[in-house]
Amino acid sequence: MTKPKFKTKNLTTENIAKLAKLFPNVVTEGKVNFDLLRSVLGEEVHGDEAYEFTWVGKREAIAEAGRPIRKTLRPCMEESKNWDTTKNLYIEGDNLDILKLLQESYLGKVKMVYIDPPYNTGNDFVYRDDFKQSREEYNEKSGMYGEERDRLFKNTDTNGRFHSDWCSMIYPRLVLARNVLSDDGIIFISIGSNELENLKKMCDEAIGESNFVGMISRLMKSGGNKGRFFSPNIDYILVYAKNPLSANDFKLPLDENATRKLYSKTETKGLRKGEKYRPFGLYQSSLDARPNQRYYIECPDGTFAIPPGETMPKKRSDGSKVIPQSNDGCWRWSVDRYLQEKENNNLLFVESREGVLIQPSGEKSKWNVYTKIWLSDRVEEGQTPTNFISQFESRHGAKELKELDIPFDFPKPVGLIKYIMSFAGIKENDIILDFFSGSATTAHAVMQLNAEDGGNRKFVMVQLPEITSKKSEAFKAGYKNICEIGKERIRRAGEKVKAETGLIEQNLDTGFRVLKLDDTNMTDVYYSANDYTQDLVLQMEVNIKSDRTDMDLLYGCLLDWGLPLSMPHTHEKIDDFTVHTYNEGDLIACFEDHISERAIREIAGRNPLRAVFRDSSFTSSPEKINVFEIFKLLSPTTNVKVI
Ligand SMILES: C[S@@+](CC[C@H](N)C(=O)[O-])C[C@H]1O[C@@H](n2cnc3c(N)ncnc32)[C@H](O)[C@@H]1O
Repeated sequence: MTKPKFKTKNLTTENIAKLAKLFPNVVTEGKVNFDLLRSVLGEEVHGDEAYEFTWVGKREAIAEAGRPIRKTLRPCMEESKNWDTTKNLYIEGDNLDILKLLQESYLGKVKMVYIDPPYNTGNDFVYRDDFKQSREEYNEKSGMYGEERDRLFKNTDTNGRFHSDWCSMIYPRLVLARNVLSDDGIIFISIGSNELENLKKMCDEAIGESNFVGMISRLMKSGGNKGRFFSPNIDYILVYAKNPLSANDFKLPLDENATRKLYSKTETKGLRKGEKYRPFGLYQSSLDARPNQRYYIECPDGTFAIPPGETMPKKRSDGSKVIPQSNDGCWRWSVDRYLQEKENNNLLFVESREGVLIQPSGEKSKWNVYTKIWLSDRVEEGQTPTNFISQFESRHGAKELKELDIPFDFPKPVGLIKYIMSFAGIKENDIILDFFSGSATTAHAVMQLNAEDGGNRKFVMVQLPEITSKKSEAFKAGYKNICEIGKERIRRAGEKVKAETGLIEQNLDTGFRVLKLDDTNMTDVYYSANDYTQDLVLQMEVNIKSDRTDMDLLYGCLLDWGLPLSMPHTHEKIDDFTVHTYNEGDLIACFEDHISERAIREIAGRNPLRAVFRDSSFTSSPEKINVFEIFKLLSPTTNVKVI
């Protein structure tokens, strides 16, 4: 029995569906593009015609990228590893807010961004940004919220804005990610077929069509029997450069070359592992050859025999002779060099049905001649990677996590990220950012590659503390949210990498500073730091939330001033007041009440680039003025702030 619906049919929806059947291109996500429909029906549409990719909510998404927030990052030393020495960061919270907070500190500083956002397969949880919160169609009863009933909702394909919501989620993040890339920086974005096209168009807009470097297809798995038409075996990685003119060429490291099969079996016959070859014959025009580069050389088909009574074989007949066939043809080297290289076993004769050399008779020879190229001689010449990756399937990622006993579904393989970093020339001290970091595979790959090549790359992981489902393995194993998984993975992976490579702590940075997104340190009566004038400071009553520690305030100041968050800092007592020194004087801060003039003079005497005090440090306005006067006198270049 069907139940009464107490509702009439939605005729509009039915009509739109009929229209979509006739003209599929005029209906997108249930909405009719009337201009396009008129064009399809032969009516001319006048006005500005510009190619533009759009979706419902695009304008809001664009605005969102620039909307200011009143948030901060609070350090969490207890959950960090090697706080004092590490240069790595693990930041918990929504990546849009975090990208906004990092804009100044990391502007133009990140060499590589790798992200692996939800593919929007119809089962993914997608984060709803603030600006969409007012929308009524998402009421909690629809069951589209995550268990934790926060801003994560399950984006199923019955959602009328299935694609639009995903686009609105990713677009502002792309805009902000581009800003933090260095001029030679590269962004890699993993994506499945559902959103590939939309993502490409958004990246073209947010990062720049001319900055598109290419698209990698990656073999996820072989086989399968999912879906109606094709069972997906491949996902993709879109690659954009901040500026292709400044970006490094992509080159595979040489050990990758050595294991690659570049030549057919017959051609490689006679080559040892690690050798390559190139034809010995050339055209003079291509080499500016001298006359002594055209001569006959002998092939290895001479016959030998051991004469009676002797032990050494002797030549019975000479080998056949060859020379490049065209008059313009010549050998790569002069006779002398040829003889010497032959002696050194650097010539290779290969029998082939398709000979390119001729004998003295003019007939084609069955021999082709090559010179060996040793990889060790070609250090500067790596091979260009192809845009198909088949060696890092999803099962490898799953196996790696299993080995670490970390429960997380669908991690990327460590090798995939390591491979990308190595051909993209991400080296030495480069910063790698992953703001959809999940189980922190990228951090693992950075540590692993550093261990292998002695690099000192640093990672910045960003992850939402997405609550693990009560039914999940992760929850049962005690992980309450994905950040707990990510941090534990980095701890275990760090130990494993060190154990495998025998590296001691000092040589490999396996630590990370944990920072957590939170509301601003300031209570509502607060002016932005830039608004301060001396007068204003005197007039205002500035308030700091009572639960904030010195460390919270210090990191808040770093963000405000756009200083990196991974530098060393110390604290000490000066005249009995706790004083923090960040990166040897980039910033000196004292947040104590009623700080003495002696302490202020001592701080000023150290000539820090920046100094910060708390409003409540001063009992009276003249005292505050006095601080500025002291600095004017003792350290006029110091930028002084009172919060
Ligand atoms: C596909 S997973 C990434 C997996 C990761 N590459 C790995 O190897 O483990 C995407 C991750 O992005 C996280 N995420 C989704 N929306 C986010 C947001 N707004 N801010 C931060 N993280 C988010 C999800 O919690 C999820 O863990």
